[in-house]
Amino acid sequence: MVDDQTCTPRFAFAEPYKKPSFGAVFLWRSWSKAEKHDAHSRSRYYERPEGSVLASFLQLISGAMPMQTQPDSTPSVSVIGLGAMGSGIAQTLLEGGCTVSVWNRSREKVDALVENGAIACTGPADALDANSHVIVCLSDYQVWQQIIESHDLAPHFKDTFIIQLTTGTIDDVQAHASFIRDHGGHLVDGAVMCYPRNLGTDEAALLLSGEPDAMNHCSPILSILDATWTNLGEDINRPSVLSRSLMSGLTGAIMGLVNGAAICRAGGVPLDVFMKFNEGTNSILLSEQKRLIEAIRDGRTDETEASIKAWREGNQALISVAASLGTDLSLQHAIQEVFQKGGRKGLDEHDISALVDVFGPRK
Ligand SMILES: NC(=O)c1ccc[n+]([C@@H]2O[C@H](COP(=O)([O-])OP(=O)(O)OC[C@H]3O[C@@H](n4cnc5c(N)ncnc54)[C@H](OP(=O)(O)O)[C@@H]3O)[C@@H](O)[C@H]2O)c1
Repeated sequence: MVDDQTCTPRFAFAEPYKKPSFGAVFLWRSWSKAEKHDAHSRSRYYERPEGSVLASFLQLISGAMPMQTQPDSTPSVSVIGLGAMGSGIAQTLLEGGCTVSVWNRSREKVDALVENGAIACTGPADALDANSHVIVCLSDYQVWQQIIESHDLAPHFKDTFIIQLTTGTIDDVQAHASFIRDHGGHLVDGAVMCYPRNLGTDEAALLLSGEPDAMNHCSPILSILDATWTNLGEDINRPSVLSRSLMSGLTGAIMGLVNGAAICRAGGVPLDVFMKFNEGTNSILLSEQKRLIEAIRDGRTDETEASIKAWREGNQALISVAASLGTDLSLQHAIQEVFQKGGRKGLDEHDISALVDVFGPRK
């Protein structure tokens, strides 16, 4: 856990696609609501060690914006939304030494955190007014929109740093960013790629985007949740795009696995045997995934040991076996359709990574 005086030295990266594994010392200072009227006044707390060897070195290796502050108060943050994830966030921040103000529609979740040291807010406006840094984690953006409208929150965003950790679509994220900007607030938008129990541990995974200044201001809080949170740069869509892309891989793999279990069960193969051989398949999966991504990145999708045609024939055999056993064929038919599209694009002799051209946007 984090030293509650300094709230951990942190890193502020301007460059996207890098975990902040090395960068500037960035000590925390919390902002009282009284200071929110003058956002510019905050800049005095960020002093770049200009001219120092450290500053030159950091900029050389990472494009980092090294900034340093002196801690002079306890970190403070509000959390709006105390479902499984919001409660995990609030609890982790409490354990990290923050003063945490909380609001949730259902009072019992507020009370549970108050017992652990959180401060209860009377409403979402109170939570926005209590601190200059506010984390929002609700079911979806529509719920947040309803809360904003029903509690007339628009005037409460001025000079507030909103850390939005609700899962959203590109349209949601864009509309929300405009709203926050139009009302004088600052936004860091993110996706949580772990379970609540992983927050504050090595398994935590936060993907964040936002303007560099907003990221820097929020960095100390984010670092308590995930010490190596990922800065995806200024494009506010990226956390949604990356988190959904990762989900595509996960969903495909898990659906395939469950389908395989159904086929084994229908065909009388013990699931323990399936599990044992599945472990063997998984052991090659990581290196295969790396090979596929590198082939796509480097434009080498024509080099292969197993062509799309061979994969399609293998999937056809799978369809036949599943059909004989009477299991559902919808997943295998959808996969076969993708292979056939690859064939129609003249990719039959290419590597399976060449299917990226089937999945890519229509020209
Ligand atoms: N849980 C995870 O493992 C996980 C992992 C990664 C990302 N996430 C993301 O984190 C976000 C929150 O997920 P969660 O698991 O915490 O969900 P959850 O446990 O279902 O909590 C939903 C939250 O939204 C609030 N809410 C729902 N409808 C509302 C309404 N009409 N008015 C006011 N408040 C309302 C709930 O308040 P009440 O308590 O009053 O119902 C609760 O605070 C989601 O976007 C999810 O995709 C979750």
